[in-house]
Amino acid sequence: MDQNELILLKRWFADYCASFSLPTEEDQRNIAIKQEHTHQVCLNALRIAEDLGLIAPEARLSEAIALFHDVGRFSQYEQYKTFDDSISVNHAVLGTQVLREQNVLGSLPEHDRNIILRSVTLHNVFTLPEKLDEQSLLFARLIRDADKLDILRVVIEYFEQDKGSRAEAVALGLPDAPEEYSPAVLACLVRGEMARKDALTTLNDFKLLQLAWLYDLNFTCSLRMVVERDYIRKLAEMLPRNKEIAGAIEIVRKYVDKGSRNGSSPFRPRVSP
Ligand SMILES: [Fe+2]
Repeated sequence: MDQNELILLKRWFADYCASFSLPTEEDQRNIAIKQEHTHQVCLNALRIAEDLGLIAPEARLSEAIALFHDVGRFSQYEQYKTFDDSISVNHAVLGTQVLREQNVLGSLPEHDRNIILRSVTLHNVFTLPEKLDEQSLLFARLIRDADKLDILRVVIEYFEQDKGSRAEAVALGLPDAPEEYSPAVLACLVRGEMARKDALTTLNDFKLLQLAWLYDLNFTCSLRMVVERDYIRKLAEMLPRNKEIAGAIEIVRKYVDKGSRNGSSPFRPRVSP
């Protein structure tokens, strides 16, 4: 993909977003949040690509994947008024349908087209399939990190806002019970495992899930960005203060600190948390 092709893809995306005009202020906020998310995921992807030393065509491909990773969110929201895939559709699959139906990638080389479609499909799976070729694995890992890093920002900003100005679809309709959380979700943090979305029962679980997803980051650069942006402290301040939660957060913090100092190696260390 050359620079001109990337510019055309960006233009298509801007026009596509502008074509969604929803009736309420709340709807507009939810759509705007996905547009801004896409922009930030593009920046994250470029930074990771640069850190990995990817050359220009591969960096452009990373940016195109980031641009389209959530393209399904817009029609998902328009049709179902939610970002919760479990009660609507898989937004990644919907995104690839949009790209195919509108022939967005038609002018690209077949290799680039396949990598984009595969990476969009894989960006939200719980774990990546074992048998992936090296290139697919690289780009899938890259978009998954770039996406998670910005979801952390979105979630933190959501909780920092007044209730009346929040984009409510962010929190998947979970109830706000200030002191309640699931021991099972907390246990994932302690064991160094990702938590599943279907295990969430309260907004505190949603915050714990964000922390547990840090275990799935693939690159040293991504862990460094978590430290730079102070995401762990910010989330910790939004959770109930007790010994169990403080202990679990300490385990994640140590894992991320150690991983972020992983020298020149691009991949995360396989440390046990
Ligand atoms: Fe997504």
